[in-house]
Amino acid sequence: MSTRSSRSLVAIVALAAILLAGCDSLPGRPSQTEIPLRPSEVTDFATLYRENCAGCHGVDGRFGAAVAMNNAVYLAIIDHATMRRVIAGGVSGTAMPAFAQSAGGSLTDRQIDLVVAGIYKSWAGAEDSGAGAPPYSSTVSGNLENGAQVYAASCQSCHGPDGQGGSMAGSVVDPSYLSLVSNQYLRTIVIAGRPELGHPDWKHDASGQPLTPAQVSDVVAWIASKRPTPLAAND
Ligand code: HEC
Ligand code: HEC
Repeated sequence: MSTRSSRSLVAIVALAAILLAGCDSLPGRPSQTEIPLRPSEVTDFATLYRENCAGCHGVDGRFGAAVAMNNAVYLAIIDHATMRRVIAGGVSGTAMPAFAQSAGGSLTDRQIDLVVAGIYKSWAGAEDSGAGAPPYSSTVSGNLENGAQVYAASCQSCHGPDGQGGSMAGSVVDPSYLSLVSNQYLRTIVIAGRPELGHPDWKHDASGQPLTPAQVSDVVAWIASKRPTPLAAND
C-alpha cells in the first residue's frame, strides 16, 4: 500500500519532530563565537528558507516531499496574504508547522514577510503563468460521480485504476497519505502540479483538455472521499 508520496510525508513528520526537539536544546547554551546572528536576527532569505523550509519543500524550492514553492503556476494562483497566513499559522492536522512566534513558532513577523517576499522574488514566473487557471481555493463541494470520471480521464493513466497506483505514479488514495494532507493541498497539487516530478498542472492533464474549475473541485472531492477519517478542519 505504501507509496512514494505517503512515505515521504511520513518522513517529514519525523523530521518535524527532530527539528522541534533540536530547537528546544538551543536556549540556555553558551553562545558560540562562530554563530554571528541570533536566529531571530537572520534576514537573509536564502538562510531563512534553507533552515526552515528546505527540509520539506526542497532545496531550491523543489523536489521536496511537500509541494514545490519554486513553481510559477503555484505562485501565480496563491496570493501573498494567503501564503503569509499559511506560513504564520501552519495547517493543523498536517505536517506544515506554524512559524509565527505568536503561534508557538520560531520566526518573527518580519522574518515571515521576508520569506514570503523571497519566495515570490526568487521563483515567480511571467505574469501570465496562471492565466486561465482555476481559482486557488473554492467553497463549492465537488460532485463525487463527476470526480470519478475526471479521475478516469485525467489521472488514471498515471495513478492507476481507482487511484491505487500505476506504472507512472503512486497511489493517491493511500490512507496514510490522505490523513496527512488537507483538501486544499490536493487542490493545489491538481492545479499547480508537481512539474519537477512529472505530475502535470491543470492545463496539461492526461485528457488533453485543461481542467475546468468544476472538474478540479470534483476530482478533489473524489480523492478526499477516500480519506478514512475526515479532517476536522482546514478542508
Ligand atoms: C503524467 C502522469 C500523471 C498524471 C496524468 C497525473 N499525475 Fe499525479 N503525480 C504524478 C507523479 C509522477 C507524481 C509524483 C510521484 C508520485 O507521487 O508517485 C504525482 C503526484 C501526485 C500527488 C501527490 C503529490 C504530493 O506532493 O503530495 C497527487 C495528490 C496527485 N498526483 C494527484 C493527481 C490527480 C488528481 C491527477 C488527475 C487530475 C493526476 N495526479 C494526474 C504523475 C501524474
Ligand atoms: C515538516 C515539514 C514542513 C516544513 C518544515 C515546512 N512545510 Fe510547508 N507544508 C508542509 C506540508 C506537509 C504542507 C501541506 C499542508 C496541507 O496539507 O495543507 C505544507 C504546506 C505549505 C504551503 C501551502 C501549500 C498550499 O496548498 O497552498 C505553503 C505556502 C508552505 N507550506 C510554505 C512553507 C514555508 C515557506 C516553510 C518554511 C518557512 C515551510 N512551508 C516549512 C510541510 C512543511
